[in-house]
Amino acid sequence: MNPDPIQSAADIIAEKKNLLIFTGAGVSVESGIPPFRGAGGLWNKVNPDFFEIDHFMRHPVESWERIRSIFYDLWGKCAPNAAHLAFAELEKMGVAFSLVTQNIDNLHQAAGSKNVIEFHGTLGRLRCTRCSFAGPPTRDLLAGNPPSCPKCAALLKPDIVFFGEGIPEHAMDQSFADAESCSVCLVSGTTGEVMPACMVPHTAKRRGAIVIEVNPEESAFTGHITDIYIRGKAGEIMPRLLEEIKKRLAE
Ligand code: APR
Repeated sequence: MNPDPIQSAADIIAEKKNLLIFTGAGVSVESGIPPFRGAGGLWNKVNPDFFEIDHFMRHPVESWERIRSIFYDLWGKCAPNAAHLAFAELEKMGVAFSLVTQNIDNLHQAAGSKNVIEFHGTLGRLRCTRCSFAGPPTRDLLAGNPPSCPKCAALLKPDIVFFGEGIPEHAMDQSFADAESCSVCLVSGTTGEVMPACMVPHTAKRRGAIVIEVNPEESAFTGHITDIYIRGKAGEIMPRLLEEIKKRLAE
């Protein structure tokens, strides 16, 4: 194996393709969106208990004020970075067949990725807590205090997975199906600490996939299921890895 982890990773991805990408909040840090843990992490400032579904339902006005200031004040103002663009390019090249993200910021889709599984939902949709209404977070809807359903006037919630809520069934089923069928799993921007999301790379590993990790710090995966660890920021590493993969596929 090449001593340079980027070269080794490029050799394997170019040879095997059939790549599943798995991302977390760290890949959006270079787009200006703070992570949840570690330096500048949201949970260092805000008690995660506020993001329990029961708390949200009991204190909708206070919860929505927090959700607006933490998430929607940034919504639409952050652009995909070089990592998101590299992931989208790998899909376009036919190298990556699926991307499972824990992120709710829609930046993978904004970068051009099509096969995105949003394991923790998305800020890009508001859902009624009573009827079947679902729609984009328009200024009018977000202005409500709290935002209420235009059809039945019940409380609206962002279509994200709150603590205490289940993972959307399609996201769960498809993520683990893709983990079982991939040959390589490229993991970036995640502590690997949150269940059941972190079981996606574990499942890939158990089914024989090679796990490649891009993160400036070691995670719960490093030294356990990670076969090739590339230390660095996703926005810096991914363009270099992409170029090395392209060179090999052009040979
Ligand atoms: N490039 C790559 N990785 C980075 C970068 C970067 N520029 N900056 C930070 N990281 C890494 C950190 O080292 C850390 O491992 O991103 C990770 C961020 O960790 P978390 O904030 O815990 O993000 P994540 O693992 O996605 O959290 C999982 O926890 O609170 C829930 O629902 C929330 O989806 C989230 C889940």
